[in-house]
Amino acid sequence: MMMLLGITSICCIAIAVVAFLAISFILLLQIFIYMTTGVCKSQKKMNGKTVIITGCTSGIGKETAFDLANRGARLIMACRNVAAAKNLKDQFVKETGNNNIIVKKLDLSSLKSVREFAEQINREENRLDVLIHNAGTAETFKKKTTDDGLEMTMATNQYGPFLLTHLLIDLMKQSAPSRIVVVASELYRLASLNLDNLNPTTTLPAYLYYVSKYANIVFTMELARRLKGTGVTANCLHPGLIDSGIWRNVPAPLSWGLQIIVKGFFKTPKQGAQTTIHLAVSDELDNVTGKYYLDCREYGLSQSIKNHTNAKKFWELSENIVQLKSTDPKI
Ligand SMILES: NC(=O)c1ccc[n+]([C@@H]2O[C@H](COP(=O)([O-])OP(=O)(O)OC[C@H]3O[C@@H](n4cnc5c(N)ncnc54)[C@H](OP(=O)(O)O)[C@@H]3O)[C@@H](O)[C@H]2O)c1
Ligand SMILES: *[C@@H]1O[C@H](CO)[C@@H](O)[C@H](O)[C@H]1NC(C)=O
Ligand SMILES: *[C@@H]1O[C@H](CO)[C@@H](O)[C@H](O)[C@H]1NC(C)=O
Repeated sequence: MMMLLGITSICCIAIAVVAFLAISFILLLQIFIYMTTGVCKSQKKMNGKTVIITGCTSGIGKETAFDLANRGARLIMACRNVAAAKNLKDQFVKETGNNNIIVKKLDLSSLKSVREFAEQINREENRLDVLIHNAGTAETFKKKTTDDGLEMTMATNQYGPFLLTHLLIDLMKQSAPSRIVVVASELYRLASLNLDNLNPTTTLPAYLYYVSKYANIVFTMELARRLKGTGVTANCLHPGLIDSGIWRNVPAPLSWGLQIIVKGFFKTPKQGAQTTIHLAVSDELDNVTGKYYLDCREYGLSQSIKNHTNAKKFWELSENIVQLKSTDPKI
């Protein structure tokens, strides 16, 4: 009897110790995330500046859009889900007092939609100071192909933004100094770019997400080189690992474990938006181009991703993939 009690209490103490350690670990980690997260300290106002941000109905994009609206920018919300974007716009207007916010339909997975969007912008806007490529999608297993015959993840995350950049570049040059900001990811380190298969319709989509983020960085570096001397800069970033909608396509039961990690250890969308905001507004970035940022600081890239020869080849092949016309602006 005595011995049984002894064992029970030892077990209880052991469980309590483990629970205490686990909670302390999570708390310490949260403090660590809080302390190390980069925060955009710039107080810069954006009145008189026009900003386009893609995919701002949820996650990081939503927080970035709110911040830019709050700084007084003319904000163009380029979104696939127009109804959701309009609701959000009303909320932004109410919360920031900025009436200069508009919603435009843009589905980056459709070359036609990208062209229609750009035509409208070129017709209706007289300047474009900041273009933020934020929209992104990730699938785990489900292979999808767009109406243009392109693999869905690559089309949405890379080729749509590539075409859009071309179609808006003249307006950005006229508005110089102007900035292009690309939301990439550290997860690029898990991938590489196969120049012999740039439309990988049979590859596992989960892997293609990393490939698309690798492509985003190669694209930004080459874009910056091509735009030297125009007054248009191009930089990219890793926002951190964020509790956003990007994980929504992970199927159960994988998603159950993931949710615990996402909720317990990842940054909030507001924290995740800081580096994008920094690159979009901060005076420090005035003449900075062709750089990669993390936590509002410049960050190193792997050797392989910096290969100019491959970047140039990727660029030229991409022009064909997005069916760039001879009448379109060349970069
Ligand atoms: N979350 C992270 O940990 C993390 C880490 C590194 C990088 N990133 C990058 O951060 C960016 C923002 O992602 P998030 O984490 O904020 O995810 P999110 O909450 O899923 O937001 C993604 C946004 O992109 C939009 N979008 C998706 N497909 C689109 C399309 N075909 N055309 C136009 N818009 C489209 C979505 O619109 P709908 O509402 O219509 O779907 C949504 O507004 C992405 O580029 C992502 O790769 C995220
Ligand atoms: C950026 O470059 C312009 C033109 O060369 C110059 O006038 C300006 O002072 C520079 N800004 C910074 C922050 O270096
Ligand atoms: C870039 O990649 C090519 C092969 O794709 C290789 O031949 C070349 O040596 C690389 N350049 C550098 C500077 O690493």
